[in-house]
Amino acid sequence: MKLEGKVALVTGSSQGIGRRIAERFAREGADVVITYNHSRDGADEARRAVEAAGRRALVLKVDLGCVDSIRTLLTDSISYFGRLDILVNNAGIETHAPFWEVKEADFDKVLGVNLKGVFFATQEMVRHLMADHRRGKIINISSVHEDLPFPNFAAYCASKGGLKMLTRNLSVELGPLGININNIAPGAIETPINTNLLNDPQKLGALLKQIPLERLGQPGDVAGLAVFLASDDADYVTGSTYFVDGGLTWNYQEQ
Ligand code: BGC
Repeated sequence: MKLEGKVALVTGSSQGIGRRIAERFAREGADVVITYNHSRDGADEARRAVEAAGRRALVLKVDLGCVDSIRTLLTDSISYFGRLDILVNNAGIETHAPFWEVKEADFDKVLGVNLKGVFFATQEMVRHLMADHRRGKIINISSVHEDLPFPNFAAYCASKGGLKMLTRNLSVELGPLGININNIAPGAIETPINTNLLNDPQKLGALLKQIPLERLGQPGDVAGLAVFLASDDADYVTGSTYFVDGGLTWNYQEQ
């Protein structure tokens, strides 16, 4: 087991990639804080999966767009488990609109969860590790769109591009503290964030043609890499982005 005795907080782990990461972490020996904003049922299913793997789980609701809510999340997690070793900033949202129609509220929502939320959750985690003089691992679930344009998703791309530079910057600032930070950049993974795409055979067919490995990714494809980056095997790995996209990035054309 690669994460024996570790404690991990995985944001947005009631569904999709986050949920699979929470389950895999538990199978590798970690206790897990599961967070949700809307899907309490999904969070409870994730909790049961963690417990079935013989590990402890704590389910907490959080609004990642709100710094007070993030601080409460970290405080409650640490007081329950005594400490945190791993933070996975997984939760993310996207809204579809041509650039000239993007509403301020949607921009704030997307940047709030995808960038500001990551920034302040990471800040709380770093303060905790510093206070305890312990090493730790931070993993951000970014996107291929931290590099690739994605027309009609300008705010999403801005948030993921920001995440790329945040990770690079923090790898330099946090390295001397023994804290590693990396991004995972998933491509088209079959999760609820893609519901519209999955229900549109034409768009889905066009996208599949651009994926050299000829299939959508599954949350499990991402979870394996997250286990590696959270483990001691990645002790010398920091400041980079790892793509899990079936080859999409080098073959991508927008329709
Ligand atoms: C987005 C998906 C998109 C995929 C590939 C992801 O970051 O969330 O909506 O299908 O990138 O373009």
